[in-house]
Amino acid sequence: MFNAPMKICIVGTGYVGLVTGTCFAEIGHDVICVDNAPEKVKMLNAGQMPIYEPGLEELVKKNAAAGRLKFTTSTKDGVEKSDVVFIAVPTPPQPDGSVDLSYMEKVSREIADVLTRYKIIVDKSTVPVRTGEKVCETIRRYCKSKVEFDVVSNPEFLREGFAVQDFLKPDRIVFGVQSQRPVHALKEIYAPLNAPVVVTDVNSAELIKHASNSFLALKISYINAVSVICEAAGANVEEVANGMGMDKRIGREFLNASLGFGGSCFPKDLSAFIKIAEQLGYDFALLREVQKINAQQMERFVRKIADTLWVIKDKTIGVLGLSFKQNTDDIRMSPAIALCLRLRKEGARLKVYDPKAMDKARTVLKEATFMDDMNKVPEGCDALVIATEWPEFKKLDLQRARKSMTHPILFDGRNLFEPAEMEALGFIYKSIGR
Ligand code: UGA
Repeated sequence: MFNAPMKICIVGTGYVGLVTGTCFAEIGHDVICVDNAPEKVKMLNAGQMPIYEPGLEELVKKNAAAGRLKFTTSTKDGVEKSDVVFIAVPTPPQPDGSVDLSYMEKVSREIADVLTRYKIIVDKSTVPVRTGEKVCETIRRYCKSKVEFDVVSNPEFLREGFAVQDFLKPDRIVFGVQSQRPVHALKEIYAPLNAPVVVTDVNSAELIKHASNSFLALKISYINAVSVICEAAGANVEEVANGMGMDKRIGREFLNASLGFGGSCFPKDLSAFIKIAEQLGYDFALLREVQKINAQQMERFVRKIADTLWVIKDKTIGVLGLSFKQNTDDIRMSPAIALCLRLRKEGARLKVYDPKAMDKARTVLKEATFMDDMNKVPEGCDALVIATEWPEFKKLDLQRARKSMTHPILFDGRNLFEPAEMEALGFIYKSIGR
């Protein structure tokens, strides 16, 4: 069986595929990344990144220069030269919440087409339970010769913005396998990471991913619901979260109250998991409530702004942060963008800034004024909003902001500042759950 350094092919160079391929090269394997977008492959071969992800560019350049990381548009080439093939293609949502698996199906056929000897086919994309069975069936159906292969589910748990560090220091690595045959090779691949390994059946591995993401989203909605109680009772949600989080069974992470969660994963995975449950005969009402609380949290924030300003129409509102969270230029399902669109619909004039997401945001916020310096945003504003928890916003020149705003009103959707300090500085300060 295969031994390290392993010959690996990654099909799909989105967030997961690109980070996975690069990090596998970084830990010594020979990696070929395949993408069907020629311009993306050209960019990557020239050392340019299609996304902003801390630390990624350096690793791509270093490993490409060492000859361990290559990019191509040819699935045939990638698969033929590899022993282990990872599938990391998009699994986008459909209008009814279910998952579009057409890329998975297409790649399964492409792999089948060029399979001439035993290979391990690993699914890294987030997929509904029982997708592995379909991948296996499809490869068997379309493969011209009777070749042996294994299909494995190896879900990825990295977060955007921390993707490289999450990949290299995972809490656990999950292998969902049909037999023990591929386990040695899979362990060899990940051995340098020294992480705990969970070996399970394919269906359970697929469920671990959806159940984990949904649970994390549930945790956020829970603290956001608690934040409503805190506001009504005059308590402080940060203190409550700190006190809860010290219990090891609960943990402090993902208990940050906010204007709601977003991104390309939680909203999509929640809908998918609800749909999967429905198809399996279970009404996952708990998760529907998680979605509802998330939507209400945004509404509540907009209402807070409207109640304070009385009328939003024709007010100039500065917005700091456009990405769906810190450390990324990703604006997919970004609560910050949703908020901007909402405020714009109410007739506000927007002045916006984000450390990394401005280019992407320009395509959706056509009427906003984009500022190149966060400290210029408050000038002439009737109110300022913090919509993304970028750490650099904590360094905002607050004295200058207060003096240059028409009215020093600050809505903090990420609880970046302390209420008492902000009030001492002369701000009307409204945050979440305090
Ligand atoms: C999430 C999971 O955390 C990863 O483990 C998973 O691999 C990934 O989805 C995926 O399925 O690919 P990601 O979407 O990159 O990662 O971002 P998170 O850090 O989980 O944040 C998601 C959203 O929740 C953001 O809008 C963030 O601002 C919000 N959030 C997070 C809160 O509002 N409060 C918190 O306490 C934590």
